[in-house]
Amino acid sequence: MLLELQHVHKGYASPPVEVLRDINFQLADGEAVAIVGPSGSGKSTLLNILGALDRPTQGTALFDGRDLATLTEPELAAIRNRQIGFIFQLHHLLPQCTVLENVLIPTLAGQPDANASDRAVKLLERVGLQHRLEHRPGQLSGGECQRVAVARALINQPKLLLADEPTGALDHANATGLGQLLIELNKEQGVALVVVTHSLELAKRLPKVVELRDGVLNG
Ligand SMILES: Nc1ncnc2c1ncn2[C@@H]1O[C@H](COP(=O)(O)OP(=O)(O)OP(=O)(O)O)[C@@H](O)[C@H]1O
Ligand SMILES: [Mg+2]
Repeated sequence: MLLELQHVHKGYASPPVEVLRDINFQLADGEAVAIVGPSGSGKSTLLNILGALDRPTQGTALFDGRDLATLTEPELAAIRNRQIGFIFQLHHLLPQCTVLENVLIPTLAGQPDANASDRAVKLLERVGLQHRLEHRPGQLSGGECQRVAVARALINQPKLLLADEPTGALDHANATGLGQLLIELNKEQGVALVVVTHSLELAKRLPKVVELRDGVLNG
């Protein structure tokens, strides 16, 4: 299993809230799943635990068979940087950097990576932005910015792509296009995909859908 949660709970002490309750979840290499559920049901909290950005208060989170609770902060940082690509509702591109530079940012941590520029150009071609390499985010449309964010998430060839409302800030046509792109990349590159979405249209196009409701996972 690429990802596994066993009896995961997540709560906060003050104010006291139990956000996730007894979550069991498995994702195999290359698998794709949508997480749906009402606002406040714990979707982002769950995604942050899957991405080793946050820790459960109880239970076990495993990535590639490794118990995340046993790893040091540098080991967790290496997993987040090399093995996982993140896409958020807002692209969080650096406005002063070009498209190409933005895609290369995750390669700056760690060992020098001689092939990174070639991979970045190929990924930008794949997301349809080969003619925008030297543009800055302010010179792009919202849909284009989000496609740069997808290329950036894939630059280190991760095993897992985590997307939190990736189409939430896009109009319908761009949202449909971005959803299609994520589904194609999952198939083509074999990268596992977890998408949190309010769009039932997108969720239905994924092979598996689970629903969070009041911190409990169904499906
Ligand atoms: N640091 C915190 N301390 C206390 N409660 C928190 C904290 N972070 C999140 N929560 C609570 O946890 C619940 C789940 O939040 P989360 O962001 O996971 O929801 P969500 O399903 O992603 O919602 P949305 O669809 O609106 O993005 C919310 O009720 C929120 O108020
Ligand atoms: Mg959220």
